[in-house]
Amino acid sequence: MVSLLENPLRVGLQKDRIPAPQILVIFGASGDLTQRKLVPALYQMRQERRLPPEITIVGVARREWSHDFFREHMREGVEEFGGGIGSQKDWDKFAEGLFYSPGNIDKPEDYQTLKDFLAELDQKRGTQGNRVFYLSVAPRFFAEAAQQLGKAGMLAEPTKQRLVIEKPFGRDLASAQSLNYKVRNVCAEEQIYRIDHYLGKETVQNLLVFRFANAIFEPLWNRQFVDHVQITVAETVGLEGRAGYYETAGAIRDMVQNHLMQLFCLTAMETPNSLDAASIRNEKVKVLQATRLANDIDLSESAIRGQYSAGWMKGKEVPGYLDDGDVPEDSTNNTFAALSLRVDNWRWQGVPFYLRTGKRLPKKVSEISIHFKSVPHLMFQSAAKQMNDNILALRIQPNEGVAMRFEVKTPGSSLRTRSVEMDFRYDAAFGKPSTDAYSRLLIDAMLGDQTLFTRGDEVEQSWRVLTPLLEVWDAPAPAGSIPTYEAGTWGPVEAELLLNRTNRRWRRL
Ligand code: BG6
Repeated sequence: MVSLLENPLRVGLQKDRIPAPQILVIFGASGDLTQRKLVPALYQMRQERRLPPEITIVGVARREWSHDFFREHMREGVEEFGGGIGSQKDWDKFAEGLFYSPGNIDKPEDYQTLKDFLAELDQKRGTQGNRVFYLSVAPRFFAEAAQQLGKAGMLAEPTKQRLVIEKPFGRDLASAQSLNYKVRNVCAEEQIYRIDHYLGKETVQNLLVFRFANAIFEPLWNRQFVDHVQITVAETVGLEGRAGYYETAGAIRDMVQNHLMQLFCLTAMETPNSLDAASIRNEKVKVLQATRLANDIDLSESAIRGQYSAGWMKGKEVPGYLDDGDVPEDSTNNTFAALSLRVDNWRWQGVPFYLRTGKRLPKKVSEISIHFKSVPHLMFQSAAKQMNDNILALRIQPNEGVAMRFEVKTPGSSLRTRSVEMDFRYDAAFGKPSTDAYSRLLIDAMLGDQTLFTRGDEVEQSWRVLTPLLEVWDAPAPAGSIPTYEAGTWGPVEAELLLNRTNRRWRRL
C-alpha cells in the first residue's frame, strides 16, 4: 500500500506552495485579460495568503496611464469580475504593489526604462530580481517582445526570470517553429511557459487523476473496449467585441489547436512514469506524433467548418457572424469546427476521436465522452431498439463531474432495458470547484512548475496534425461557400454527416 506521503498525486499536482517574492510584469496590461482575469485572480490569491506580501505587479502598455489610474482600473476589475475587494485596508495593501510603466513593444529604450524601474522596485519591495514576464499582447507581437526582453538582458537568469506566452502560439506549423526558434534564442525552454488556460481547470487536471488513480478504468481505455471518443467544447457567446482577433484565428486556431487538443492529449496519452512536467509532456508529445486527420486526402471525411448566421438564443434575436461587429462582409472565417482524428498506435488503432467546438451554440458545455463498444452478443433482442452503448462522460464545465451510462432492466414482467446514469457531481461532493484556471497557472509559473504548460515540441506537433486542414481552410474561398448554421443550433448539418457516415452520432448535450 502506498502511504499518503509517498503518493505522487499528493506531492505533485496537489501541493500548495508559496512562490518566492517576485514581480509579475504584464505586457498588454490595458487589455481585458488583465482586468477581468489576471488581477482578480492575483488579488484572490493574495487574500488567501497563497502569494507572499512582497508580490508586485507591473502593467505595461502603450497608453499613458499613471500608477493611480492603473490601480483604480484594476480595483474596478476585482469588483466586477472577481470576488470584490473585501476590506478597503486589504485592497490598499495590495494596491501598494501595483504599478504601471508605459511602453511600446518595439522600442528598445522603453525596455531599458522598464529594466531600471524593476531594479528600483526590487530595492523597495524586496523582490530579489525574480520576474515573470506575461505576454498578454496580440500574437503577432510575441516574438518582438521576447527578443526585446532578451536584448535588454531581462531573461539572462534562467532560475529567476520566466516568460509566459498566451495563445495561439503561431498560426501553423512553420510559424510556430519560427516563433519557438526566436524565443529560444533569448531564453531556455525551461523559462518558457506557453499558457493554455484549459490546463488550469480543476476538471481538466482531474482527467489525470481519474485515469491514473483508478484501477478500474484503465483496462477498458483502449481499442478493445472503446468504440469512439467525443470531445465537445460548445459556447453560447459570439464575438464579444473581439472581431479583429477572431477573424485572424477562427475556431480552429482559437479553440481546437490548443484547448481541444489538450483535452484530446490527456484522454489519449499513455500513462506517464510520474507526474513531473517532463514525463507528462513526453507522453503528450508521443500521442500527438501518432495522431493524424482521419483522411488527409479527402478532407471532407476529416473535418467540417461552419459559420453562424442570425438566429435566436434564449428568446433573443442575435446577429450572424458577418454582422457581429467589425467582420468583413465577405469573411469565410470558421466559427465552428468538427474534426475526426485517428491515433496510429497499439492502444487506439481504428478508434475515431471526434472533436467539435463552436460559438453561438445552444449551450455552454465542455465534455469528453468515451463511447464503449456494444456487447459481443445481444441476448435481449426483443429490446434491441432500446439498447444504448455504455458511455462514460467527463463533464469539464458546467455541472462539473463524471457520469456513467449503462442499461438496466425496467420493472415489470417483460424483459425491457433502459439507459440510466450514475452521476458524480463535484459540487455535491466538495462544493463548486474553483473555476479560476488563471490562479493555478500564475502560481505555477511563479514557482517554476511547467507541468501545466505546453512544451515547444508539443505545440509544434499539435499544429502538424492540423496542417493539411489549415492549408485548405486558409485558401481564399468564394463568399458564401462555407457551410452556415443558425445561431442557437448545434452547427452545420455537415457536422452530423461526419459521424453519420460511420453510423455514429454526436451525443445530445
Ligand atoms: C479562450 C478563447 O481561449 O477561451 C475564447 O479565446 C473562448 O474565444 C474561451 O471564449 C473559452 O474559455 P472558457 O474557459 O470560458 O471555456
